[in-house]
Amino acid sequence: MKPRSLPELAPEQRRILVVNAKGGCGKTTLTTNLAALYASSGVDTALVDHDPQGSASQWLKARAESRPAIAGIAPWKHTADPSTTRSFQMRPAFVARRVVIDTPAALSASDFGRWLGEADRIVIPVLPSAIDIKAGARFIGDLLLDRHFRHKPLPLTVVANRVRRNTLVFQKLERFLISLRIPFVATFRDLQGYVRAAECGDGLFELPRGGDDQEWASFMDLINWIEAPASPRSIN
Ligand SMILES: Nc1ncnc2c1ncn2[C@@H]1O[C@H](COP(=O)(O)OP(=O)(O)OP(=O)(O)O)[C@@H](O)[C@H]1O
Ligand SMILES: [Mg+2]
Repeated sequence: MKPRSLPELAPEQRRILVVNAKGGCGKTTLTTNLAALYASSGVDTALVDHDPQGSASQWLKARAESRPAIAGIAPWKHTADPSTTRSFQMRPAFVARRVVIDTPAALSASDFGRWLGEADRIVIPVLPSAIDIKAGARFIGDLLLDRHFRHKPLPLTVVANRVRRNTLVFQKLERFLISLRIPFVATFRDLQGYVRAAECGDGLFELPRGGDDQEWASFMDLINWIEAPASPRSIN
């Protein structure tokens, strides 16, 4: 197995919004794994959970104290608490070097505007199924037309999740992304390790024999895209 370390990181803060209106496409899985990868590499990392279902917060709660720490923020927990202001709740996200942001499936346009203001990069996971590809296309179309996004266009990428390569449906997903001229930077496989890691607050690569070189390379493709300077091409 090759030695594993992250590529060189950009000096400035990066806030990564993981979003797709389609449920169950892997938003939380990707968010928690990115947070674990950054934290395991000694990077000051925060995880913002915008989903009232709280899956990312539960993952963080299950995380062993011996694991590299990740600051957790769940703004929805505090909305009814007048004693803390929003900026106070969000404080760890202002200071962390990498902030990974999980979002719910059902999202409203007003939430979206606020989240875009909190982000520097957008990552959209899509499953390779006909229904998910259709929903993903609709979501990306809505996003590109959204007035907040048009006002502040951020680099965005699509990643394919739970992929079994060389299937017809995967080829369809590839063609769809190429037709949108949106960078398609990584494919993650359908691995039982993700389910095991989710249960105990770990990232895939924190489990003994959790992830192999191929999956690591996929995460490095995504991290290289996150860390790269924004280019007009990546904005689409
Ligand atoms: N690459 C993968 N391999 C195997 N299982 C996966 C993978 N990605 C996600 N899963 C599993 O699929 C289910 C849905 O994933 P996840 O909760 O990350 O999706 P989500 O987009 O956050 O869902 P929601 O919209 O409900 O918040 C979970 O049980 C998760 O463990
Ligand atoms: Mg989720």
